[in-house]
Amino acid sequence: MKFNYRYKEINQINFAFKDKNELEFFKGDKGEVLAFHGKIILGLGEEDKFNKEIFKEAICSLGKFLKDKDVKEISIKENSTGLDDKDFVLSLAEALIVSSYDFNYYKSDKKENLFEVVNLDESFNEFEADVDELQKVLCGQFLTRDLVNLRSNDIYPETLAQKASENLSDLGVKVTIYGKDEILSMGLTAFYEVAKGSDKEPKFIVMEYFHGQKDKAPLALVGKGLTYDAGGYSIKTSNGMKTMNSDMGGSGSVIGAMKAIALNKLQVNVVAIVAACENLISGRAYKPGDIIKARNGMTIDVDNTDAEGRITLADAVNYAATEYKPALIVDLATLTGAAIGALGETYTASITNNEEAFKKVLRASKKVDEKIWLLPNDPFYKTYNESENGDVKNSGGPKAGSITAGQFIENFVEAYPWVHLDIAGTAYLSAPQGINSKGATGVHVKTLYELAKEF
Ligand code: BES
Ligand code: MN
Ligand code: ZN
Repeated sequence: MKFNYRYKEINQINFAFKDKNELEFFKGDKGEVLAFHGKIILGLGEEDKFNKEIFKEAICSLGKFLKDKDVKEISIKENSTGLDDKDFVLSLAEALIVSSYDFNYYKSDKKENLFEVVNLDESFNEFEADVDELQKVLCGQFLTRDLVNLRSNDIYPETLAQKASENLSDLGVKVTIYGKDEILSMGLTAFYEVAKGSDKEPKFIVMEYFHGQKDKAPLALVGKGLTYDAGGYSIKTSNGMKTMNSDMGGSGSVIGAMKAIALNKLQVNVVAIVAACENLISGRAYKPGDIIKARNGMTIDVDNTDAEGRITLADAVNYAATEYKPALIVDLATLTGAAIGALGETYTASITNNEEAFKKVLRASKKVDEKIWLLPNDPFYKTYNESENGDVKNSGGPKAGSITAGQFIENFVEAYPWVHLDIAGTAYLSAPQGINSKGATGVHVKTLYELAKEF
């Protein structure tokens, strides 16, 4: 999609609040569209409830209308919404681009995304660079969406690593891919325990983007990379496993964020790490009751093989901590059903060992309308993870499941500032929400980009 800053008299878009006009056949409800003689009126809903998120939702509905009618070009003369001009232009750009996302990879009969040009009045010229930056960030977000939507017969550890390399290597990101032998020699033994039940070789993917000050401690992003989670011997129901291609959502988000950062040539030091594997059943798979050893020497009592994500993350965050001595570790993971129970698909659940660090992440997320809620890191909950025979248990049981999962990971971050984002609900939607369609959202690519930019 191109944003031209040359206004034309075609398909002019105008805006109207609810019940603020004389027309009987047009109320002005949010997203309501009225089109006649090359002019289009878009309803924005009630004026006193209006904000930029609502504006994006209305634009998203306009985008769908235009796509349905094969309209490829629109023009916008003025901003009559009350939003400031920068928010107006950027929200318009984001919602039009996102509304055009359509995952049709597996359809023989694909409808191309036809929407092409937005002509804006010259008074919006000053935001040209901001729109360009946003388009690059969304390019990262769309990569994430594609990776997460693709099914596990196409995305498995090797192909995920390939995609990371193809997308990032030419942009100044050094992508290193380690296989089974290296994983073991690097001491990533707990990760390997989860991976060993699958015929697909695990891959440990390290993406380094070091374009900031020479000795400045980097931002470390760690993404859960279960390219399929059947649960292992603590097996899921067939319905529960059906969407588990999305269990690499965290790794999808960190790969997409690296693309957004690199495309925009941010002058920062960022490292992204993904421990990619499948959690399956076989004669070689780990079993409930096994006691395994992690990279930091701790023993993990495997209470439930379906609580596999935190085991892979234990070694991945530990590697990030000891190898990079980062200023901040942010891990993203489709970690617990409990996060969906608590916050649905609207808010990401978070936990931290450092409230200042969390505030930075929260500030970044608010700028880009991605919702995060901090759960209490109360020491009492840690007692749920205590094991009779090992140092720690991989499941804290049914109580406070998202907190105990986060606290398990905290054992491995070596006291570096750390923020955990449980995106089980927000990475992959069971129904459309806001400007996002069903399926992968690419959640927190924008947040991680903003965080890196402020770093
Ligand atoms: N990948 C799942 C969490 C999940 C569930 C993500 C539904 C998205 C949608 C994770 O590996 C898992 O199975 N967690 C268990 C943990 C439990 C056994 C302690 C869960 O939440 O049930
Ligand atoms: Mn699981
Ligand atoms: Zn999982």
